Amino acid sequence: MTFNDSNMEQLTREVAEVSSSEALDALEQRELGRSGRLTLELKALKDISDLSARRQRGQELNERKHRLLAAINGRRQELGTQAEAALAQTEALDITAPGAPVQVGHAHPVTLVTRELVAISRDLGFMAIDGPEVESEFYNFTALNIPARHPARDMWSTFWLKNYQDLLLRTHTSPMQARHLQKNKPPLRIVVAGRTYRYEATDRTHEAQFSQLEGLMVDKRVTVAEFKAVIETLLARLFKTDQLAVRLRPSYFPFVEPGFEVDMGCVFCKQKGCEVCKRTGWIEMMGAGLVHPQVFRAVGYDPEDWQGFAFGLGIERVAMLKYNIRDMRVFLSGDVRLTQQF
Ligand code: PHE
Repeated sequence: MTFNDSNMEQLTREVAEVSSSEALDALEQRELGRSGRLTLELKALKDISDLSARRQRGQELNERKHRLLAAINGRRQELGTQAEAALAQTEALDITAPGAPVQVGHAHPVTLVTRELVAISRDLGFMAIDGPEVESEFYNFTALNIPARHPARDMWSTFWLKNYQDLLLRTHTSPMQARHLQKNKPPLRIVVAGRTYRYEATDRTHEAQFSQLEGLMVDKRVTVAEFKAVIETLLARLFKTDQLAVRLRPSYFPFVEPGFEVDMGCVFCKQKGCEVCKRTGWIEMMGAGLVHPQVFRAVGYDPEDWQGFAFGLGIERVAMLKYNIRDMRVFLSGDVRLTQQF
């Protein structure tokens, strides 16, 4: 086969139609490689004995060789540009595109209220401490003047730990009163915020697990008036008002004497009567009282020498009031639609 013009035309078309650089390399090899067709024809020149015929043929072949090379190189560039364009398509990164929204975490409303209560308490001179949620019968009950088999124990339905004689999930944060008094010398002021547990059915306002803020102040002389002042300040700051009424109603807890229930003047209707306060103008907030002499005795103090007040406040209850939450069970539902609102 010799290189004539039609052959050349067909070849340049083939080059133009080649669609990969590998195929182009193969084509180049086939025609111009060491034993390529055009190469072989060039080699065969030496067999042409007539000088002028050989010169003419040589010129012709050389010209074709250069045309073919030019076509191949041109196509090679085209293919390279195409490949780059394809890569730019598939690996395109639009640095001006808006970022994907980042999911940030939210503090649980009970956490928020706890932090707020602790911060206010600290401002009022109370030290915040923690205590165990698995508690002994002694600290949860006995030291708090609630002896074994005494009917007062029925005030707290208790989760007892299986296989342990005297361990339970604390039913309130009050055991920390006894624990702290045993290890520290008054005068002292502490608050304890934490989880508490009761073996009870749940409904809109009750959960088997909830949280309390316990407060304890002990000194040589502590009065109900001091308690009232502290709790008025605490509640006023919590509900962000400077007009806050507090009312004490007699009540019974074995570890205080006198004991009372603390009502707060309804901050939502300025005590005119509304849904929240059930038209009474008052909202029940906590149990409280002066530390019972038996509690002092149980932890080695002479009740003649010391006095104190204590209170226990339900944290979920505060969160429900502050954030207008109607069902306590949402707190433990694990539903992010709750936390996302805070
Ligand atoms: N521990 C009590 C309860 O959980 C509340 C309380 C605390 C009452 C301190 C008086 C003093 O019901």
